[in-house]
Amino acid sequence: MVNYMGKLDGKVAIITGAGSGIGRATALLFAQEGAKVVVVDINDAAGEETVKMIKDGGGEAIFIHADVSKAEDVKNMVQKTVEKFGGLHVIVNNAGIVGEMIDTANYPEETFDKVIAVNLKGVWLGIKYAVAEIIKSGGGSIINVASIGGLIGFPGISAYCASKAGVIALTKAAAIEYAKHNVRVNCIAPGVIETPLSTKPFAKLTPEIMEAHISRIRLVPMGRMGKPEEVARVALFLASDDSSFITGAVITVDGGMVAW
Ligand SMILES: NC(=O)c1ccc[n+]([C@@H]2O[C@H](COP(=O)([O-])OP(=O)(O)OC[C@H]3O[C@@H](n4cnc5c(N)ncnc54)[C@H](O)[C@@H]3O)[C@@H](O)[C@H]2O)c1
Repeated sequence: MVNYMGKLDGKVAIITGAGSGIGRATALLFAQEGAKVVVVDINDAAGEETVKMIKDGGGEAIFIHADVSKAEDVKNMVQKTVEKFGGLHVIVNNAGIVGEMIDTANYPEETFDKVIAVNLKGVWLGIKYAVAEIIKSGGGSIINVASIGGLIGFPGISAYCASKAGVIALTKAAAIEYAKHNVRVNCIAPGVIETPLSTKPFAKLTPEIMEAHISRIRLVPMGRMGKPEEVARVALFLASDDSSFITGAVITVDGGMVAW
């Protein structure tokens, strides 16, 4: 007999930054594969819209407002998830911001702090508060969304690159710590993906930095931007038992951009 179960049937998954882009695509795909999805965002209207899309498609989801850079919010996000769904198996620490696009010496200190707080501390808080619940639920998967900016340099966004390199290092350390508890910790490093995050900031770039970015994008061997769904499918792989022997990994989803 063929078993037609979804890949995440019976699983509870938190996805941060699920009101837009990669997070929304991941939330929709996880729900389609049977997960009970907790949509988290600071943008309530966008988060509620993702929940509506899931429910309209026959899936199960709730919205929880949380700023991932605030410990109280993240703690509350995990507590409410467990109260509502009785456990937690997967967290996708996806929420992130680019910050401003300015060279390193002129980068504003408060923006630097904000980028690190959301992109790096936010991932750490997600692991910190979720991991005990995932262990209690019998184990599961933590997926951190880094960036190829954590592997190679991009002019004008050094704070972003530093935060994402931090996410990669954090992923590896946590993977070793929690492997014995049946919790896998991996990260995805997307390349240029067509979402508001990658398209909006370009409007403000100086011509020189713009040219540097454009010439980089021209180097994508596959010759195009990625789609949020193409990242979501990798998140599904990492969330499901299909990746049962993978932990501490960094998976690039970039059309070959860092293969150069
Ligand atoms: N789009 C790309 O090209 C690209 C490339 C590499 C990595 N990434 C990473 O993928 C992740 C998702 O990016 P995206 O392109 O889907 O962006 P996006 O801007 O489309 O979506 C990000 C979502 O995160 C939410 N958010 C922002 N700050 C938050 C906070 N403090 N707490 C909770 N939610 C918050 C936003 O409201 C938004 O809904 C980010 O971590 C980003 O760095 C994106």
